[in-house]
Amino acid sequence: MSEPSGTVSAPSGDDLLDPRAVADPYPLLAALREHDPVHWSARYRSWFVTRFDDVSAALRDPRFSSDRISPYRRARLDGPDADPALRAAFGVLEDWMVFKDPPDHTRLRKLLSRAFTPRAVERTRPRVVELTDELLDAVLRRATGRVDLIRDFAYPLTASVTAELLGVPRADQDRFKDWSDRITGLVFGGLTDAGRHAAGAAGMAELTDYLGRLVEQHEREPADDLLSALISARDDRDSLSHDEVIATGVLLLFAGHETTTNLIGSGVLALLRHPAQRALLDADPGLLGGAVEEVLRFDGPAKTVARLMAEDVELGGRRLLRGQRVFLCPSAANRDPAVFAEPDAFDITRRNGRQLGFGVGLHYCLGAPLARLEASIAIPRVLERLPGLRFRDEAPHWAPVLLSRGLERLPLRFDP
Ligand code: HEM
Repeated sequence: MSEPSGTVSAPSGDDLLDPRAVADPYPLLAALREHDPVHWSARYRSWFVTRFDDVSAALRDPRFSSDRISPYRRARLDGPDADPALRAAFGVLEDWMVFKDPPDHTRLRKLLSRAFTPRAVERTRPRVVELTDELLDAVLRRATGRVDLIRDFAYPLTASVTAELLGVPRADQDRFKDWSDRITGLVFGGLTDAGRHAAGAAGMAELTDYLGRLVEQHEREPADDLLSALISARDDRDSLSHDEVIATGVLLLFAGHETTTNLIGSGVLALLRHPAQRALLDADPGLLGGAVEEVLRFDGPAKTVARLMAEDVELGGRRLLRGQRVFLCPSAANRDPAVFAEPDAFDITRRNGRQLGFGVGLHYCLGAPLARLEASIAIPRVLERLPGLRFRDEAPHWAPVLLSRGLERLPLRFDP
């Protein structure tokens, strides 16, 4: 059946959380990029930057600071009345390299890069194939001809891959979904959302407690996994502290699966919506790498990337003031007609090495090789093993989140 349509015209303005913009943010982002490329949003009390050249330059500019947790902690959580659980949770986030500027960022990134090498990623390949097939076998065994590609496949796949890479025993992996969902509220929720904060803080406490015990066990008995590599990662003078190993473990678990789930979901969706592109891919598997890059450009998981102004900066005739928040939008930049011909067309043969779906500059995604590997195994395998894959009577459902773009549900049918 063809895709059920919930399609309506985009809202005007900058309400990216309007249900229509959640379903399809691109018309709204295109209007901003064309008419107000450095836009002050009263709604979000933040700037939105949408042109490719501006987003790319800002991501490399140290005046657009990544250190956005510690100012919040100092302002809200250092007082005597602050909730200790929340302070502890934000303390873990503060140890994430993605929220740090040099020199702290440089130090953490260097140490993590020693442990999380392209070789370590490549070694996961056979296991990713195996896990992919196990999950698809389970879907086929149910013989219902129905699948929610996110819940039944992409989410458990990417969660298991990251957890196994780190060295989390299989039996414990189910608990991660709940922790990770709750922490998502802390990282992606509004900073003033008290309910989400409390749940996120509790989830973070349980996860760090769990990982703390796992780190201690790995300290006693090193294994051939990333957690052991993190514990022993050092250069001539330096290594990660116990707390930094835990925080980095949480970061990897968190950064690794939600985003990659989104990439797999968006990839399968884009190929189902564009049968001619799918036919090209079926005919020439050599196009796979380009297809994954095109999904990252066309409908990638990084909708916006946040920064805090460290100084006043002139950009596009506007003055961004020190302390203001800025959302840099890879999702808008990746469809900038100044850089990509026919930017709204999904074209897997396009040469688009410049897409910003993994960011750029100092914070360029460290997990990009793993994400590419997982997507390039999972997407074709789903299409190959679930015959007649097609939409069913329920529209794809997107998560209402400002920072990321991802399907919460992708209900599909296939011939059992
Ligand atoms: C399709 C999947 C993914 C997407 C779209 C994605 C996107 C991004 C983006 C846009 C950034 C830059 C953030 C910024 O500049 O503030 C980033 C950073 C990062 N990503 Fe990913 N990511 C993905 C998968 C992964 C995976 C699988 C891992 C690891 C298991 C990972 C680990 C990281 C880490 C550690 C950073 C921080 C790097 C730094 O601050 O230097 N990511 N990612």
